[in-house]
Amino acid sequence: MNEKSHFLKALLKNPLGVGAVTPSSKKLAELMVAGIEPGHDALLLELGVGTGALTSAISDILPDASCYLGIEIDEKLVGFVREKFPDLNILTADACTASDLHLKLALGNVRYILSGIPFVSLPKKVCENILCEVDAFMDKGSLFRTFQYIHGFYTPPAIRLRERMNRRYGPVETSPVVLNNLPPAITLTWKTL
Ligand SMILES: C[S@@+](CC[C@H](N)C(=O)[O-])C[C@H]1O[C@@H](n2cnc3c(N)ncnc32)[C@H](O)[C@@H]1O
Repeated sequence: MNEKSHFLKALLKNPLGVGAVTPSSKKLAELMVAGIEPGHDALLLELGVGTGALTSAISDILPDASCYLGIEIDEKLVGFVREKFPDLNILTADACTASDLHLKLALGNVRYILSGIPFVSLPKKVCENILCEVDAFMDKGSLFRTFQYIHGFYTPPAIRLRERMNRRYGPVETSPVVLNNLPPAITLTWKTL
């Protein structure tokens, strides 16, 4: 099965958990990693790896595999991405357990959190639990980046996410709209630099 078929299968199984109709485009993935420099004590944590659309761009900027940890809840997708990126540590797990997992694995400090989690379609409580995990990593000098589809930009869950994060980490930095993505999207970044 190819990437699109894997994605479609996951979408049909759990539409709100996948929350997208197709994997992110190369252009969106490039913007998601713009300005990011992972290192041994500056790990990159990817939440909601999916079929690895962002992971491809991430793997291009990793000094080596030990600077990365990926978390994806759908075990079939994890099987698929592990074949694509055999060196990378990609776990079948719930992003709500990210800080525990990171602790158990005794990895270096996480500096970058890149998220493909569909905060607009997941239940409010699940979103809040995942964002609490993000908070646990957002020490001084950290960055959290996600993307939102522009058609959902003014929906209550999208606004709630931005307001929550703005309150904690200051005004969001947004990218230009990536028209070359289905649907068009923008990236949202918060930093504690
Ligand atoms: C919109 S897709 C993004 C996939 C990929 N990052 C991309 O940009 O194409 C969202 C992904 O988040 C995963 N996901 C949803 N809830 C999750 C959770 N609680 N923990 C980990 N992964 C989750 C879904 O299974 C899906 O693969």
